[in-house]
Amino acid sequence: MSNNNVNFKIIRDFDCGLIGTIQKLEIENLGQDAALNEWQIPVIIRYGRFITAINQNNEIIGVCQAIRCWQNKKTAFIHSFYIVDGFRGIGLGKMFLKYVAELFKSEDFDSIELTAVPENIAAVSLYKGCGFEIVKTEFDEYGRGRNRYLMKLIL
Ligand SMILES: CC(C)(COP(=O)(O)OP(=O)(O)OC[C@H]1O[C@@H](n2cnc3c(N)ncnc32)[C@H](O)[C@@H]1OP(=O)(O)O)[C@@H](O)C(=O)NCCC(=O)NCCS
Repeated sequence: MSNNNVNFKIIRDFDCGLIGTIQKLEIENLGQDAALNEWQIPVIIRYGRFITAINQNNEIIGVCQAIRCWQNKKTAFIHSFYIVDGFRGIGLGKMFLKYVAELFKSEDFDSIELTAVPENIAAVSLYKGCGFEIVKTEFDEYGRGRNRYLMKLIL
């Protein structure tokens, strides 16, 4: 899919170069703690959904990684979502998330869940603006004092 010189692409094949590029983007945009490594990225590509936003220079400028929920097979869980630093604040996150929501709807999912740090105003605002609602706060989700909002979008 193409929009304003940005293409959205489901990654199905990969090589060492692509894994290295994504690993670097993960660390730069999510930080070392949250970044997936070279073992985990191929698992999401093969068994989940790994979607990228690519600009006219063929650079990856956005990443969305999702898995199917075991308890409710019609729920997709977005494990991570980011727009590469330097391309933020110009509407790409919203455009990308809307594309992802339409994609999952077309794949017969009926909801999307994700978690976000309550202090991450940009992310929480983006998700709310795209129709997500806060379901609850998951306390100590990623360790003591590291709380997350569980947010859900009905498709
Ligand atoms: C969160 C993130 C994906 C937003 O992407 P983006 O392309 O910058 O967002 P957009 O330009 O499309 O903005 C969409 C909405 O997000 C919100 N938003 C974006 N940046 C914001 C900021 N700095 N402050 C407050 N709200 C902001 C606004 O509600 C905005 O809607 P509006 O323009 O109608 O006001 C991006 O900031 C990012 O990748 N951050 C680092 C990684 C991260 O935190 N990922 C989410 C983990 S849960």
